[in-house]
Amino acid sequence: MHPTDRPRRLRTDGVRPLVSETSLSASDLVAPVFVDATADERVPIETMPGHERVPVDQAVARVEEIRETGVEAVIVFGIPESKDPEGTRAYAEDGVVQRAIRAITADTDAYVVGDVCLCEYTDHGHCGIIESDAETDPTLTVKNDETLALLAETAVSQADAGADMVAPSAMTDGQVRAIREALDGAGHADVALMSYAVKYQSAFYGPFRDAADGAPAFGDRRHYQMDPANRREALREARIDAEEGADVLMVKPGLPYLDIVGDLRREFDHPIAAYNVSGEYAMLHAAADKGWLDLEATAHESLLSLKRAGADLIVTYFAEDLADRL
Ligand code: PBG
Repeated sequence: MHPTDRPRRLRTDGVRPLVSETSLSASDLVAPVFVDATADERVPIETMPGHERVPVDQAVARVEEIRETGVEAVIVFGIPESKDPEGTRAYAEDGVVQRAIRAITADTDAYVVGDVCLCEYTDHGHCGIIESDAETDPTLTVKNDETLALLAETAVSQADAGADMVAPSAMTDGQVRAIREALDGAGHADVALMSYAVKYQSAFYGPFRDAADGAPAFGDRRHYQMDPANRREALREARIDAEEGADVLMVKPGLPYLDIVGDLRREFDHPIAAYNVSGEYAMLHAAADKGWLDLEATAHESLLSLKRAGADLIVTYFAEDLADRL
């Protein structure tokens, strides 16, 4: 009797939940929050519908809105009052992120992650200290080793403010060990470290750079972020960060790099995070606006696919909207 194999038997409404291999829940999600030292009221982010930059005095309210949907974890990004070549507002005790983290951890039970990078704080928009003639010589960019101490200082200042976890995203070689040692030395052995271990030089970050005002003033990030053509290199990056003491390994962006999420899942016992980035969010919104896609269904399918590929947690701008439904 043909067909003998009938997978459709397991697709009735009654049995589908029993055989479902992957699930998505609010507890898998981390919601980004943008805190803006230059704003005195909430400012909508045009390229990311539904998201706003909020003044520091609104940070707690913003986080409580997110927690009401069931999402308990947030990652905090800052827009400083001023920028300079060394990104000093990234590691200032009274920096915008430090003030926001202090308020959020004092007044809410949220799990708070600090993004550790300099690009939002440097006037040139690169993720670290740059060579003096980098502007005219495109082969030059971030001075790796000189940047390490500043990233470590940024992480410690966020931990001092109460961050539960720090997440270095500068793609500076050696940043995980530099930060881990600095945290431990400052009495923050319990602060977790999620490394943006595998961060590609991606065109999908476009809307974020508007949101956080962190686009490079010249050149691009190809000398420090990974080449999208490379797959084996992702394992090498992840291995280095695991060795240096990362607690969680992240792949970024998410959907275009599902193969990488799968590779890391197979190779490591660490929790794997995926960053469903601003471009992934913006493109679904743009298509839905035109009536070409169902926003909620495609957003859900995107995040479920990241879980299926092997992600344990997902940083996503859809967190709030989807959590309500989960
Ligand atoms: C660096 C950082 C960026 C993002 C998160 N952290 C920008 C970049 O590397 O250019 C992008 C996130 C997104 O696109 O959603 N501070």
